[in-house]
Amino acid sequence: MWLQFSILKKRLTNEIFYVNLEYEDKITIRLRSEICEWLGCQLTGEKSEATVVLSVNSKLDDNLEAYEVKENEIIGASSVGLLYGFYAYLRLKLSGANLSEKSAPAQSLRMINHWDQVDRTIERGYAGESIFFGRFGSNDNTDTGSFAVKNIGTDIFRNDFTRLKMYARFLASIGINAISLNNVNVRGLGTSLIVSPYIEKVGEISKLFATFGLKTFLAINWAAPKLIGELKTSDPLDENVYTWWQQTIDHIYEVIPDFGGFVVKADSEGEPGPYQYGRNHADGANMLAKAFEKYNGLVIWRTFVYNSQTDWRKRKNDRAKAAYENFMPLDGDFSDNVILQIKFGPIDFGVREPLMPLFGALKKTNQLMEFQITAEYLGHQLDLNYVLPQWLEMIHFDNYGQPKDTIRANSPVATHSGFIAIGNVGMDENWCGNKLSQANFYGFGRMCWNNDLTATEILQEWIALTFSEVKAEVQKEIFELLIDSNQTYELYNAPLAVGSMMVPHYHYGPSINGYEYDRWGAYHFSDRNGLGIDRTTATGTGFASLYAPEVAKVFEDKSKTPDEILLFFHYVEYGHLLHNGKTLIQTIYDQHFEGFERVKSYIKSWKSLKGQVDEATYDNVADRLERQLEHARNWRDQVNTYFYRMSGIPDDQGREIYR
Ligand code: GCU
Repeated sequence: MWLQFSILKKRLTNEIFYVNLEYEDKITIRLRSEICEWLGCQLTGEKSEATVVLSVNSKLDDNLEAYEVKENEIIGASSVGLLYGFYAYLRLKLSGANLSEKSAPAQSLRMINHWDQVDRTIERGYAGESIFFGRFGSNDNTDTGSFAVKNIGTDIFRNDFTRLKMYARFLASIGINAISLNNVNVRGLGTSLIVSPYIEKVGEISKLFATFGLKTFLAINWAAPKLIGELKTSDPLDENVYTWWQQTIDHIYEVIPDFGGFVVKADSEGEPGPYQYGRNHADGANMLAKAFEKYNGLVIWRTFVYNSQTDWRKRKNDRAKAAYENFMPLDGDFSDNVILQIKFGPIDFGVREPLMPLFGALKKTNQLMEFQITAEYLGHQLDLNYVLPQWLEMIHFDNYGQPKDTIRANSPVATHSGFIAIGNVGMDENWCGNKLSQANFYGFGRMCWNNDLTATEILQEWIALTFSEVKAEVQKEIFELLIDSNQTYELYNAPLAVGSMMVPHYHYGPSINGYEYDRWGAYHFSDRNGLGIDRTTATGTGFASLYAPEVAKVFEDKSKTPDEILLFFHYVEYGHLLHNGKTLIQTIYDQHFEGFERVKSYIKSWKSLKGQVDEATYDNVADRLERQLEHARNWRDQVNTYFYRMSGIPDDQGREIYR
């Protein structure tokens, strides 16, 4: 990944470090070992010999995670600030930038959720097996779209602490400060991670992570009291249920005194939850929060709640409204140590969605904005997809203010707010399956830390670190390949934000009507006249009205809605003229031809880099680009053919559309 050990070592040969501290804690001990054990650098006991002095000064900034890097000095506002400052110093050294940076994180909680399962698989994982669970040395998992957990009948933990240490270092180096280890769909033995003998092993991982400033969380199964506690109910208002959770949490803190808390997916996609007992989400979350109170533990409660038994026949039902309808009425009802974890868009990490309207509207609830680094809907880490442009658009989307500011401002406990993303790493050699997907992992951390960085800046930074020893022209070529890749993917995917047209469950490749008559609430409603979902208040589902009035006004009006999001809000006829000056049908054709051509040009440009980047990277990306081309071809031809057959309108440039 980006912290290239051997190159860093070379760049630091002349440095002598001196750590000037009045105290030691687990983080400063880690810092010392990073300097002398990991990097093999010189650490002196004599300040006068040092070329770089590291110290802590709590007056540096109100934010204790802040740091300042200067030519010969690294200062942290606390020991963790100093650790971040040290990695910032390495970043600047490696990329050849000026050694001058003063910085504090914009978001308080900067978290990764793993969807790793105890049988070593990863739900929506495209980079091999779990780094936490599985047999030492094994790596044969690929995403199969089937996530039933098998019993592997042995120690469920992988116990590869070397890799875990590397991972913790990568996380800390981009400022991540919290992590949950297991999938939110908690199944099989996964339910027992919160109790002995498994919690002890979680404790070992957490102990290592804590030295890198990371808090460890676990996802729980809401029905654990019944499933593993032998109670007859999991009703949150039942005394025995509360007592069971309190005892379980007390025990967790005996083992892991700095445990972070729970991540909860309840009443969602078939998972159990408080609705089963006629209770609401606040009843459920607050019960757990009470049990965590004395430990300052957190309950991170997901809002990805919708009735996955949607009926396509009922046009007014709208999955996009579900989170808002379930959680808006509860604004202000959650305890101070509950945080709602809210996906950035109203559906599910699609390549184009508008902002989830809960952002800006929720005024009295702690909030986390959720992203997905693992490329479930974005090409499975086979297709190039540098996603930062999309994420940045979301954090700056103005709905009663921009989420980058409102999630903090509207959280009653400001430090209980931030950004979280589903991780994309596994046991694969290059961690992410596709070397270039590392840019998204890196970018997420950097975006959490500094909300004002642009997608261009983040990518340039990542390339400068990852390819620090290749020629500037080559770096530029890699930049050009990646910077618009999210848009390219969007071009050959489902048109203009209409949503799911992919192979059900697996979510790679086109299947235009795959979800059209299904129960998951993701329809496109194409017919011979047009396509799109009417989400207006006047004639549709009313979703548009959930935004701030000035935003709602734009989405309500077909002529004002931007082209790229048009079909999310409106049913539009094929002949309708868009802002781009072309008809809808012609836009669909053009975009799909263009998307494919762009991928062809990526292949050409990557081929020109043979011998300029290391062989493993070259082969890895070359292989994936070939698969992407096939993918883009499938999308292009299926989408174009489908809409030609529906509309009967030919391409005005006479290109080949299969009949
Ligand atoms: C998507 C994804 C699931 C996941 C879910 C979630 O629906 O396909 O695999 O469990 O999101 O975020 O909980």
